[in-house]
Amino acid sequence: MNLKRSQYKIIMQQYEAKQLHMKHEIKKRKEEIYHKIPLIKVLDDEIASNSIDTTCYIIEHPEESADKLEELQENNLILSKKKFHLLVENGYSENYMQPEYACPMCKDTGYIGRDKCSCLKQAMIDIAYEQSNIKTAIQEENFDTFSLHYYSDETDPRYNLSPLENAHIVYDKCKKFVAHFDNTFTNMILYGQAGLGKTFLCNCIAKALLDTSHTVIYLTAFQLFKLFEDYKFNNDDSKVPDEQIESIFDCDLLIIDDLGTELNTRFTGVELFNCLNTRLLNKKSTLISTNLSPTDWSKQYSDRIVSRIFGNYEPLKLFGSDIRLKKYT
Ligand SMILES: Nc1ncnc2c1ncn2[C@@H]1O[C@H](COP(=O)(O)OP(=O)(O)O)[C@@H](O)[C@H]1O
Ligand SMILES: [Mg+2]
Ligand SMILES: [Zn+2]
Repeated sequence: MNLKRSQYKIIMQQYEAKQLHMKHEIKKRKEEIYHKIPLIKVLDDEIASNSIDTTCYIIEHPEESADKLEELQENNLILSKKKFHLLVENGYSENYMQPEYACPMCKDTGYIGRDKCSCLKQAMIDIAYEQSNIKTAIQEENFDTFSLHYYSDETDPRYNLSPLENAHIVYDKCKKFVAHFDNTFTNMILYGQAGLGKTFLCNCIAKALLDTSHTVIYLTAFQLFKLFEDYKFNNDDSKVPDEQIESIFDCDLLIIDDLGTELNTRFTGVELFNCLNTRLLNKKSTLISTNLSPTDWSKQYSDRIVSRIFGNYEPLKLFGSDIRLKKYT
């Protein structure tokens, strides 16, 4: 993604700060443990001196290097086990001297070898798409805070189901969507009237996938088409970089919230088809929310868009009464 150099620099400075913080933390914990359990220092010194001895020996007898290294590994494993045992005996966790990185995959460097780690990709998406709003929203709206309390348990004769029973089913499907995200390719369209928790559920899914190192872009339909428009028609400084548009096509999950609120033109129709279709071909999941009913979809969108959605998206309908009115009055 084509971030400005200054933006990239800020992100990398944050990574450096995290690493520095980690170094301090490790040093602090080491001092604390050496002070409280001096035997651990003895063991650590032994591990270090074994390694030095082995290296010196191998330099003089290179033909024995494989055997010697194996021997070293075995010895150090025994010493490490003694260490862990002592830590646990003294009320610490085994890993106390190796605290966990914010991103264990790249050890807070942003890179795995030469490749960008998903945490760095997401940090770049967050800046490029100004995703700070969703970052705040997902703190409040996530699977842990989703409540079924606001859905009525009175059966709706049209569906022979109560809004509560239905919301429960939809909630479970959203959880399954996340649980099977890495091994099944699913797209979903959440629909129903305003105030039924569609955006809330989008946020639940976004948080769960972000927490498990996936790249997620959340955009309202209005924002999505604005981006496409700026990309196509702006030639000045505000032109959207190619790579930013590419990430819309290949991020792990694209959420298009409030589809149907955009200004409906021939241009948006073509762009929407292209976006949904490319993601289908790339086998990248998309989550759509809309207040429109399936009959409205046919009125608002071309046949080829509707058939793409009907054919490849799992429809999840929410019904009941507006939660905003219940919650805030
Ligand atoms: N299951 C829920 N538990 C708690 N609050 C909810 C739930 N669903 C919706 N809300 C709240 O109700 C309001 C409307 O929900 P929202 O997700 O924006 O509806 P929609 O996107 O369907 O119009 C928001 O303030 C949201 O936080
Ligand atoms: Mg909404
Ligand atoms: Zn990482």
